Amino acid sequence: MTQPPAHHIFADAHALVRAAATLFVAVGQQAIKERARFLVALSGGSTPKALYTVLTSQEFATRLDWSKVHFLFGDERAVPPTHHDSNFALANTLLFTPLNIPSAHIHRMRGEVLPDAAAIQYEDLLRRLTATTPGQWPVLDLVLLGIGEDGHTASLFPGTPALTEQTRWVTPGLSPQGTRSRITLTLGVINHASVILFLVTGVNKANVVRRVLENRADASDPYPAARVRPEAGRLVWYLDRAAASEMAAATDGLSS
Ligand code: 6PG
Repeated sequence: MTQPPAHHIFADAHALVRAAATLFVAVGQQAIKERARFLVALSGGSTPKALYTVLTSQEFATRLDWSKVHFLFGDERAVPPTHHDSNFALANTLLFTPLNIPSAHIHRMRGEVLPDAAAIQYEDLLRRLTATTPGQWPVLDLVLLGIGEDGHTASLFPGTPALTEQTRWVTPGLSPQGTRSRITLTLGVINHASVILFLVTGVNKANVVRRVLENRADASDPYPAARVRPEAGRLVWYLDRAAASEMAAATDGLSS
């Protein structure tokens, strides 16, 4: 891992989301300038909802050439794309449709097929989209992540085989609750991204955030989120004051 993770604490979720939208657009503009396209993997769960809404606002929607953005997913639940638990469905309603993103630029994980088949299909898709040299990992421009109270991220849950996958890019995941069957990017793909951004809000995450950020043990850490250690990229944590409330740094100056 090159540079230590940067964490920024915001007064509230609104300030955090605005900063996240600003970073999203900045990384996107840079990728488009350098490679004529922006490859971004969206996270699931509820925290990204506000970010999607802000990105489609008048202020941000005009700041990026959305025709050059390719949307990928960090993980998906094994449900049809119309299901209320579908990460695709959420992004489609709050982001893709309002921004009129062409379907050719929306690369969803097929939650409606068996997770192993969906994982193989998605790895094939990623290989074609990124044209990565065999034996290399793809380099996505931005990977958005959240964290669960058990320290899971994407659909990499504590003590599950997905967490120790060394060669596959995409693999089935197993959640202890909710929609158990999942499809998820592996740590190999996540850790080769140029920028990894954790978005974390709420006091219910404060304990796991402290454990992950203050006990940065090693790659065998039981908390999957602690194993997110970019090979060469940037790792950024955006926390609201509630999510940072157990950290020693919580009283330090807030990020504006
Ligand atoms: C998923 C996510 C998952 C999520 C965390 C946090 O599909 O569920 O990818 O890793 O980011 O569970 O979820 P919340 O944002 O809802 O707290």
